[in-house]
Amino acid sequence: MDTRPWILVTGCSSGIGQALVGELRKRGYGVVATARKVEALDPLHPGADLRCISLDVVDPDSITAAVEACRDLRLIGLVNNAGYGQVGPLELLTPDELRAQFETNVIGLHEVTRAFVPVIRANAAKGEGRIVQVASLLGRLSIPLAGAYNASKHAVVALAETLRLEIGDEIPVILVEPGAIRTEFRTTLVKVWGDLPERAKGTRYEQILKRSMNARQAMGERHAISAAACAEKIARALAKKHPPRRVVIGKDAFWAAKAKALLPSAWWERILRKAYKLDQA
Ligand SMILES: NC(=O)c1ccc[n+]([C@@H]2O[C@H](COP(=O)([O-])OP(=O)(O)OC[C@H]3O[C@@H](n4cnc5c(N)ncnc54)[C@H](OP(=O)(O)O)[C@@H]3O)[C@@H](O)[C@H]2O)c1
Repeated sequence: MDTRPWILVTGCSSGIGQALVGELRKRGYGVVATARKVEALDPLHPGADLRCISLDVVDPDSITAAVEACRDLRLIGLVNNAGYGQVGPLELLTPDELRAQFETNVIGLHEVTRAFVPVIRANAAKGEGRIVQVASLLGRLSIPLAGAYNASKHAVVALAETLRLEIGDEIPVILVEPGAIRTEFRTTLVKVWGDLPERAKGTRYEQILKRSMNARQAMGERHAISAAACAEKIARALAKKHPPRRVVIGKDAFWAAKAKALLPSAWWERILRKAYKLDQA
């Protein structure tokens, strides 16, 4: 049996997950790279320290199959990275869109965690196991027109904090809170709009959506750091003997969280409404 420690990462077809595979391998871990479509993992360099399997976090059979596919490995860690962003003003957001957002970002993450905790417990020495939950700055504060995503990431923060309290030192739980990262995230954001622009037509949100999505894109591009830099920070935290409980990634995430905590709520709201151009006629 391969005795190296293995880590499973969800959502490795692009972005942070894809970059994390290389970062973890560099540090001597074996990596179970997963994606909904396993062929999306073809760009990864093959090797004895890499296993590619398909895993859709909203499909319970797929999760069970992933657990079985790792039985012969000394799997000691899990990175719940898979996720996407659903945009849209709350007035126009359908329950199905909200449900789908939670199915992937929250329920999926929870189901994968539940499935792999016993595996990690069986394989890892005390304190050696790792559970990494990728939330977001938007798990600490909310921005306009992203209510579903804000809510899902606030839920991820709560789940990670609770798991840490319940599992204690047995398996360290690391909560990752990135700001803007340059990945496929913003492309997917537009793909999952569906008929939102049509639904917005004739409503007060028609112009607001156009303006603020441009403002959001510009802000993201101005402050975003690379997926590689983000992955390096996650891998470094994960490999520490005493891993941090919380990893805030990016200056934007650091300063925005500080400003939200320090400023009076009315000021904070005014700043956000201005930044997202909500008050223009
Ligand atoms: N980029 C940012 O600015 C940013 C900021 C804060 C937090 N985050 C978080 O970071 C994580 C990674 O996102 P990213 O920025 O790297 O975006 P990305 O490039 O779009 O990657 C997202 C990954 O999640 C996967 N995924 C989506 N739904 C899935 C499902 N049902 N089952 C399995 N995999 C699924 C995608 O796979 P497919 O290719 O199959 O769709 C893709 O591999 C997400 O949780 C995101 O919320 C990102």
